Amino acid sequence: MTSEIFEFLGSLHPLLVHLPIGFILLTFLVDIFIKKKNNAVKGVITLGWFFSFLSGAIATLFGWFLGSNNYYFESQIDIHKWSGIAFVGIAFIIWLLRFLNFHFSRFFSRFINLTVLILVLVTSHYGGEMTHGKGYLLKNLPYVKKELNQKILLADKDNPLDSLYVYEDMIYPVLEEKCIACHNQNNTYGGLNMTAYESLIKGGNNGAGIMKGNPYQSAIFKRVNLSQNHPKFMPPSGTPMNYDEVAILHWWIDNGAKRKIPLVKFRNDNSIRKLVEEKYQLDLKEKSYLETLKLSVVPDEKLKLLNEEKFQWRFLTNENSLLDLKFTAKKISVNDLKSLDQIGEHIAWLNLSDCQLTDDMLSHFSKFTNLTRLRIQKNRLTDKGIKFLNDLENLNELNLYGTRITDASLEVFSQMKGLKKIFLWNTRVSANGIKSFKSLNPAIEIITGL
Ligand code: HEC
Repeated sequence: MTSEIFEFLGSLHPLLVHLPIGFILLTFLVDIFIKKKNNAVKGVITLGWFFSFLSGAIATLFGWFLGSNNYYFESQIDIHKWSGIAFVGIAFIIWLLRFLNFHFSRFFSRFINLTVLILVLVTSHYGGEMTHGKGYLLKNLPYVKKELNQKILLADKDNPLDSLYVYEDMIYPVLEEKCIACHNQNNTYGGLNMTAYESLIKGGNNGAGIMKGNPYQSAIFKRVNLSQNHPKFMPPSGTPMNYDEVAILHWWIDNGAKRKIPLVKFRNDNSIRKLVEEKYQLDLKEKSYLETLKLSVVPDEKLKLLNEEKFQWRFLTNENSLLDLKFTAKKISVNDLKSLDQIGEHIAWLNLSDCQLTDDMLSHFSKFTNLTRLRIQKNRLTDKGIKFLNDLENLNELNLYGTRITDASLEVFSQMKGLKKIFLWNTRVSANGIKSFKSLNPAIEIITGL
């Protein structure tokens, strides 16, 4: 009960502080502008100092109550508190001296007025910073650079997207900036320490900080989601969390609040995905293998070595680093394949269909490490040759229609990590074989014609 009364009186402080400011300014004006100071004027000035002192003392007392709610940082309060107290002390002394008819020289009077004016400015400025946030005074001036409020979380080679996590990379930095000064090992207001994941989840004196899967049962979310005037709103001073930060916090708790949810999970959720892409400049689109590949340009002199009567080629991308290559003659030889060795890593798509390719020739393909699409249909290939394709980790499309492979090759396919699509029409693979393969490898599409 009493603590509530103190809390109420504390909340009157921001209102009451305007009284001493008004009284003292009025007193200054009388002192400066009324040149002829008869006893009545002097009486008014003395009374002015008295009311400045009295209202200042009450405001300071209520300010003390507010400060002891622990809603503000000690370091934040310090200057405000001591300059306020100095103001009250000086006002009291000046009133007393005037009351006792002490003679003020003009110089002394001006000196006192100036000192007190400075104290009022300092006190109210630091008080303003506590209620309106740091930098409030100048932030609306046209030449002051506005903070864009756009964070940049760049995914690059050293920091690929899948190694960024929602909690570590998006939520914790916000808590650190806006909450942890009051909720750490030393200052554990409300019994809540947010420095470690475990203690954040556990919460403070009033139970769970975070209820996984339920934002509206989670004290952390509830407190930042209150209206800013609510006495329980967090943070009680300093910059509040903004809409995006609250939305991400909500998403994280709703999705289980696990420590290691990778950012790429945002992909599946359109509402949050747009927000994250926009605000954090992240590109969440899934990249194909070729898009992530960084190869140099294919050297011209190496391309010239290709026999133009037998090979047709084009670049797949503007970087001129990846090739789509097609064999156009009737019969391919081992030497033709060897002529590709120099540019082996640049071949992304390869079409060697219907050119009398043999099983043995397939042993040569391990040099084509970046092959993603391979067309070798209509050749007399058997399971023996398919074994050589096992190493092509990035291959995702394979066309084998019209070859002589059987169910034995299915085993090889299921070991090829990148495979997404196989054309098996008109081969010796059985319908049953395909059925059981599909149930074991649902991600791989098999095309068997009609
Ligand atoms: C300036 C200090 C300060 C800052 C900054 C601050 N808090 Fe608090 N917090 C307190 C105080 C004091 C209490 C205890 C009084 C109360 O419950 O309101 C508290 C209590 C809480 C509680 C209730 C704990 C319990 O179980 O009773 C939660 C939850 C909380 N804060 C969350 C936050 C979050 C989230 C942030 C950052 C967005 C934050 N706080 C920033 C001072 C602060």
